Amino acid sequence: MREPAALAAEAAATWEREARAAVSTRGRFVVALSGGSTPSALYAALAGLRFDHLPWEATHVVWGDERCVPPDDGRSNYLMAARSGLLSRPLAGVHRMRGEDTPESAAAAYGVELAALAGPGSAAGSPPMAPPAPGPRALEPTPDPAPAPGPPAPASTPEWLPTLDLVLLGLGADGHTASLFPGSLVLGESGRAVAATEAHDGVRRLTLTFPVLRAARRVLFLVSGEDKRGAVRRVLRERDPGAPATQVAWRHGPVTWMMDAAAAPGIDGPGC
Ligand code: 6PG
Repeated sequence: MREPAALAAEAAATWEREARAAVSTRGRFVVALSGGSTPSALYAALAGLRFDHLPWEATHVVWGDERCVPPDDGRSNYLMAARSGLLSRPLAGVHRMRGEDTPESAAAAYGVELAALAGPGSAAGSPPMAPPAPGPRALEPTPDPAPAPGPPAPASTPEWLPTLDLVLLGLGADGHTASLFPGSLVLGESGRAVAATEAHDGVRRLTLTFPVLRAARRVLFLVSGEDKRGAVRRVLRERDPGAPATQVAWRHGPVTWMMDAAAAPGIDGPGC
């Protein structure tokens, strides 16, 4: 188990590994940021000199969820990432969820944006094309890009379903992850990438749905604090279906858990 600073350093190393693999294979890296407080140390670490050499110009940042508030509201996940310095990197794209818009229209618009960025038909998904040679030349068929590592997207991947390279997730004490809360209707969403929902504090939220979290090439849970101990046990030991995070933790694709000693004393599970 790791202490907070070590947690951030190890998570940054995973981010770097996934970024290099994605950029070398597909020419870009699409990563979903988590909200809450735990990941801010990771974002600040990535904003530091030690990570200047990462492929930032080929990195697209999206969000796993957002509060339905303006981007300058203290509750905004976008603002938390911006304040860490991470968004000051020369990123290929910062795809903010528009918390200031009507939740349903913001969710629909974000789904369209993600499909264009990382959907099965996304143009940006293939490696960058070589610049055209000067002068006339026969139009050669473009060779298929190298197959992606890990489980290839099944041929039947729906157009609306993006394949993200890395999804960062937190864990709530009630077993929620992203803004997928126990008992919420959006837990059953299977035909959209992004949904509008509501947290128990009454604040409307936007969240990626389970199909997107399950389709990601890698999921990384970052968990800290003694208040998460019960949720970690429910998800990793009991596989409690009443804890939404269980639906992601036990998916087929790779899931990495990075937890501090307070959250998970001596608990092992997939990817610990
Ligand atoms: C959010 C997050 C949420 C968070 C957990 C854990 O927007 O709040 O997406 O799912 O990750 O609540 O939060 P902490 O990291 O602050 O414990």
